Amino acid sequence: MGCKRTTLGTLYGVGIGPGDPELITLKAVRILKEVDKVFAASSSSNEYSIAKEIVDPHLAQDTPVERLPFPMTRDKAVLVEAWRANGERVVEFLREGKDVAFITLGDPLTYSTFCHLMKQVKALEPNVEIITIPGITSYHAAAARLNAPIAQGERGFYVVSGVNGGGEIRGALERSDTVFVLKAYRKFDSIRKALDDLGLTKRAVVIKRLGLDGEGIIKDISTLDEDEKMPYLSLVVIQNLE
Ligand SMILES: C[S@@+](CC[C@H](N)C(=O)[O-])C[C@H]1O[C@@H](n2cnc3c(N)ncnc32)[C@H](O)[C@@H]1O
Repeated sequence: MGCKRTTLGTLYGVGIGPGDPELITLKAVRILKEVDKVFAASSSSNEYSIAKEIVDPHLAQDTPVERLPFPMTRDKAVLVEAWRANGERVVEFLREGKDVAFITLGDPLTYSTFCHLMKQVKALEPNVEIITIPGITSYHAAAARLNAPIAQGERGFYVVSGVNGGGEIRGALERSDTVFVLKAYRKFDSIRKALDDLGLTKRAVVIKRLGLDGEGIIKDISTLDEDEKMPYLSLVVIQNLE
């Protein structure tokens, strides 16, 4: 007789919203109550504790929460090794038949470590069921905070990464009226310079730690110090509308 294989558990990628604990969906709350185990990325310890604080009230008693290290580095070898190890750790539980949630600030498929995790898990266990629970993104929450229309009529909008600075802003604005620059922290100087060069400082709003302690909304970038640094949770909304 062959040995009986336990049914694989399900992996849920759960978006928990951008920070405000009320911006989590009913579905995310239900899944968090039902799963056996919760994982959260610990790329930035700050992000981990924010995520933990949002989900804690919704977890069943005794549901363990484990940090998975996703290092903030551009060293590909280090990243690949961390993604592999994290995939294996999650698969250990799925192979025991446990349902597992991986929580993400905002939405799990928008600039999220969940995308890497999902790939690793699929490679290790191609038959595993993966279910994504969408979350309210930081840029949706930012637009709502400003009552700023995201897209209207026949025009589109762009979401770009600020990791390499402000180089993408010009092209994006040529094709749309609204551009969101996420990850606007490390190269904030370059983003600011691009806005200056394009004469758009008055049309850009910097939002930091939206919905969290220390929230800041800067409507006039010129009021910032020359060498002002932005925290990790910062984004820029640029609107080229009359
Ligand atoms: C790794 S990305 C995660 C994006 C997230 N998955 C989403 O759907 O919004 C991290 C970036 O999201 C933005 N972000 C997320 N939460 C934010 C918040 N509460 N306030 C301002 N920016 C935020 C920042 O630009 C930050 O650098």
